[in-house]
Amino acid sequence: MMIPPSKVALVTGANRGIGFEIARLLGERGMEVLVGARDPARGEEAAARLQALGIAATPLHLDVTDAQTIEAAALAIASRYQKLDVLVNNGAISIDGGHPPSELPLERLRTTYETNVFGVVAVIQAMLPLLRRSEAGRIVNMSSAMGTFGVWSHPYMGFGAAPPLAYGTSKAALNAITVFFARELRETPIKVNAAEPGPVATEMNPAGTRTPAQGAQIAVYLATLPPDGPTGGFFSETGVVPW
Ligand SMILES: NC(=O)c1ccc[n+]([C@@H]2O[C@H](COP(=O)([O-])OP(=O)(O)OC[C@H]3O[C@@H](n4cnc5c(N)ncnc54)[C@H](OP(=O)(O)O)[C@@H]3O)[C@@H](O)[C@H]2O)c1
Repeated sequence: MMIPPSKVALVTGANRGIGFEIARLLGERGMEVLVGARDPARGEEAAARLQALGIAATPLHLDVTDAQTIEAAALAIASRYQKLDVLVNNGAISIDGGHPPSELPLERLRTTYETNVFGVVAVIQAMLPLLRRSEAGRIVNMSSAMGTFGVWSHPYMGFGAAPPLAYGTSKAALNAITVFFARELRETPIKVNAAEPGPVATEMNPAGTRTPAQGAQIAVYLATLPPDGPTGGFFSETGVVPW
């Protein structure tokens, strides 16, 4: 009997937080996990922690704002696996620092978009040839309720702080990017969806009430969708999230 080749998953920003847990949970499902990290030492340390849990984890130097590391990562995956089954665009930054939109230094908007928006597109474009070689490619974009229009346009909703223009609009753009790629790829087996993990206690959100493992669940669900699963949607653990 032929043993099917194992699935290969790449998680960006997998060295800590929700990304680490996504990598762990995909690894527990038998996937080979590439631990994307912008700092090679942090990636190696995280991969070693996963290996100690019995997971097939390999560190991969990948700074989503650095075209050279993206290209090198794609070449490394092509040479070792010839394909990619799952891409989770998890790495992101949140640097509004409490500034209201009227006072946000423009540089913070640019820096945020470099990682949360342009970085994601660059990684998808680089990995797409490898995802096309998978029987069931899955792209998961880690988004946020902060990227929804409903939250900020409703007078009684919001998060009790100044609307984070850079972070929130970067995730709104990511949601749009999700729909655009899903549209382009709709005749292929590849599914592209956005995930909302809820408020998760990490370095990005120390006040979060959910564990990183809980936050990772929706990404794992979307990364392992069956062939008749949705594409071009935005989901949390409780279902569809309104844009
Ligand atoms: N926590 C929440 O409540 C929450 C809610 C909604 C959505 N999310 C989303 O969930 C995802 C994970 O968030 P988190 O809370 O786990 O954040 P986190 O603990 O701050 O971790 C962010 C990860 O992204 C990496 N990263 C940052 N810039 C990068 C770059 N240029 N290239 C590659 N990796 C980069 C970080 O690497 P370093 O270690 O090198 O900094 C780190 O591994 C993010 O997309 C976030 O927007 C989080």
